[in-house]
Parts: sequence; structure tokens; C-alpha cells
Amino acid sequence: MINEKLEEAFNDQINKELYSEYLYYAMKVYFQELNLQGFVNWFDVQVQEERAHAVGMIDYLNERGGKVDLRAIEKPVVEGSTPLEVFEHVLRHEEYVTSRINHLADVAEEVRDRAALNLLDWYIKEQVEEEATVGSVLATLRLIGEDKKALLLLDKDLATRTFVAPVIG
Ligand code: FEO
Repeated sequence: MINEKLEEAFNDQINKELYSEYLYYAMKVYFQELNLQGFVNWFDVQVQEERAHAVGMIDYLNERGGKVDLRAIEKPVVEGSTPLEVFEHVLRHEEYVTSRINHLADVAEEVRDRAALNLLDWYIKEQVEEEATVGSVLATLRLIGEDKKALLLLDKDLATRTFVAPVIG
């Protein structure tokens, strides 16, 4: 059985991962409206990754005999009105998710749940990758500035991103 406080922290994080999925879906729609199909693809992969992150925790909680509590997902709000500003929002959001994963690991440590810490190691590494991936697109967008041709080249590049189902844990 999993400790109650840790179960609550997992349920809270499951909601945040599902919110991330929803937020990235809203960003996907933003890029659909701009007809930047490579960006649309990039966010589509992001949406699938967030779903996988949530499912990983749901399955884990089940496996540990915990109770999964699916909660209301907040309306997503995309901050910014340019691709650069939207990606700044993505980075801020991922940094926030990182802080919540770290909090979850703190709770697991507090209740001395080594198995949960083992799982959370995967999420901690994943956050490093997520922030790096977003940071790299952001750096390119900063270089691009107002250059529309360069933006279309980046769009082509982002069209090549593919979703690979993660093996969590
Ligand atoms: Fe599930 Fe993007 O963190």
C-alpha cells in the first residue's frame, strides 16, 4: 500500500500532467490558426508525451494499491501572442512542472518510499530533457526574430519530430 500523503501528491501531479496535455493542445490550436504545420506537429508530440506522463503515474498508483482520483482539468490559457512568447510560456510551464515533480520526490523521501523515488527518478530525468528541448526551440526563435523565412525553416524542422512511447520507470 502507498502512503496517503504520497497518494494525494501523485493524484495532484496526475492532474497537472493532464493539464499540461490540455495546455499543449491549446497551443497546437494556436499554431493551427497560424498554419505553421511543423509547430502543430511539435505540439501534437508534446500532447502525447504529457498523456503518457499522466498514464505512467495512474498505472503506478494502481500497481501500488493506491486510489486514482481523476479531478477537473482547468481551462488552459495560452500566454503570449507570438510563437516566441508562446514558447516562453512553454518553458515557464515546464519549469513549474519540474518544481512539482521535485515536490513529489520530496514527499516520497519524507515517507521513505524508495520504490516511488525510483519511479520519480525517471520523471526527474525527463524534465531535464523537456526543458532542454524547449530551450533549444526558444533559442532558435530568439535568433529568428522577425525573419519570416527563417521561421518557415524552423517550422520545417519541427515537422520531423516524432512521438516515441516512453518506457516509464
Ligand atoms: Fe509531463 Fe512536460 O512534463
